[in-house]
Amino acid sequence: MAMRIDIITVLPELLKSPFQASILKRAIEKGLVEIHLHNLRDYATNSYNQIDDYQFGGGAGMVMMIEPIDKCISGLKAERDYDEVIYMTPEGQTLDQSISNQLSLKGNIIILCGHYKGVDQRVRDQFITKEISVGDYVLSGGELAAAILCDSVIRLIPGVLGNETSALTDSFQDGLLAPPTYTRPAEYKGWEVPEVLLSGHKANIEKWREEQAYKNTKKRRPDLLQ
Ligand code: ADE
Repeated sequence: MAMRIDIITVLPELLKSPFQASILKRAIEKGLVEIHLHNLRDYATNSYNQIDDYQFGGGAGMVMMIEPIDKCISGLKAERDYDEVIYMTPEGQTLDQSISNQLSLKGNIIILCGHYKGVDQRVRDQFITKEISVGDYVLSGGELAAAILCDSVIRLIPGVLGNETSALTDSFQDGLLAPPTYTRPAEYKGWEVPEVLLSGHKANIEKWREEQAYKNTKKRRPDLLQ
């Protein structure tokens, strides 16, 4: 059964192209994942097609209203069961490889993209099972964050990557950064490829890669070794 991701957004056009190229496109074509975009505007409940409103208590910025979001999420839930309803927000848990690994094993998930000053807190209290951030910086909306999340999850779905081992040797998959990689030519402008990689000696190459991965991690991201 294909994984199904329903994305609720006020800017569906922002989420089209990420799924129309390369690995994500192929994953969809192979039937390994389905992406369904829902324009929140289509679920507006009042005659002004309104999806946001001023915040109670005053303050700058509009807040996304609960009614259109409830209508959209409840409609989806009436059709099938969902494993997670994720809200993209800088206040969420910071995305890492272990979260992506876990999500890649799920069946159906909903992703809600925030905008303006965020959503009415009752949406979070009543519908959201997980809040995810893509880093300690603020984006204009949750759409690009949702695209990052989907990319990192979908490439881990079994069968998506042609070479099954290639996701396993990614940075972070073993808690370390990846070792350096080289391709032809073996020498360019006097800049040479490390001898061991040309040796054909599998065990030595493997040992070199492990050492380099460790050195790389120690130098750039010592926090990962703790
Ligand atoms: N929406 C705005 N900024 C965000 C971030 N850093 N992560 C997830 N969603 C966001």
